Amino acid sequence: MSIEQLAETAQALVAPGKGIIAIDESTATIGKRFAAVGIDNTEANRRAYRELLLTTPKLSEHISGAILYDETIRQSTADGVPFAKYMAGHGILPGIKVDKGTVALAGYPGELVTEGLDGLRERLQEYYRLGARFAKWRAVITIGEDIPTGTCIDVNAHALARYAALCQEQGLVPVVEPEVLMDGEHDIETCYEVTEAVLRSLFGSLYDQNVLLEGTILKASMVVSGKDCPEQADVQEVAESTLMCLKTTVPAILPGIVFLSGGQPDEAATAHLDAMNRLGPNPWTLSFSYGRAMQQAALQLWARDMKNNVRKAQDAVYARARANGQAALGKWQG
Ligand code: 13P
Repeated sequence: MSIEQLAETAQALVAPGKGIIAIDESTATIGKRFAAVGIDNTEANRRAYRELLLTTPKLSEHISGAILYDETIRQSTADGVPFAKYMAGHGILPGIKVDKGTVALAGYPGELVTEGLDGLRERLQEYYRLGARFAKWRAVITIGEDIPTGTCIDVNAHALARYAALCQEQGLVPVVEPEVLMDGEHDIETCYEVTEAVLRSLFGSLYDQNVLLEGTILKASMVVSGKDCPEQADVQEVAESTLMCLKTTVPAILPGIVFLSGGQPDEAATAHLDAMNRLGPNPWTLSFSYGRAMQQAALQLWARDMKNNVRKAQDAVYARARANGQAALGKWQG
């Protein structure tokens, strides 16, 4: 796979006014989301829900790609069209979550490391055959008393770089996601310092391991106040702090940065992205790769009447895609 092809895919993922929808929840995680609205976590329901999302009319107006889970990339529409084929035929790039989740980092209480490198080359080869053109790996950094440690940051960065290099070897664009969790009482300055250290370590590891940044996308968390911090930074402060942090750590040659929503309310996720783009021009395209902030409203509608509310739920997905697409241009109407 040439770097030109990887760069082309990366550019397509952050095409003007477009972003990514993350629907790559593991079976356990989607189970939690379903339980919250009273839906049984069966294979049939997971398939039907993912079909609802992926077949949203005109989705590709604002969505460049969708991240799937292992089970989902093997599933098909009710008419028997494999999801990845359906997506490719409707202008949406198929992506795949390839990490195997987090485990406790031995020797470092309260900290996590992401697993999934063993056998990754072979899994990537299979995913490519199944139609995937980009992949995602999520590392999780927790802020708390005396954490994160430099060790936790570095081992996660090292794993992200190993994953990214393998992706590029197999023709997939790596979306590298070091998520700094919003959980905690810390203030926005603490989030800034941690995010800066994480991104410095990540780009050091990517450089050390010969990852080509032209064919890489960063999936970043925003610099925000901890969820339980008594003083919550406003939209402008979040936008300015996040941009400053990214500018000091992320090389300009990277084609794009997409944000995760991380538990932010739908509108806040949109407002933050919009504000950052209004502060531009920026060195890279800034867009979205939201999971919850794209799906929450739709899931609630579908749960109320799974038979008759499909179209209503799809309208909600489209509305979120449109708002976030406008925010990716700094033209959200609010
Ligand atoms: P959220 O936007 O719900 O944080 O999910 C994005 C994602 O893919 C996390 O890995």
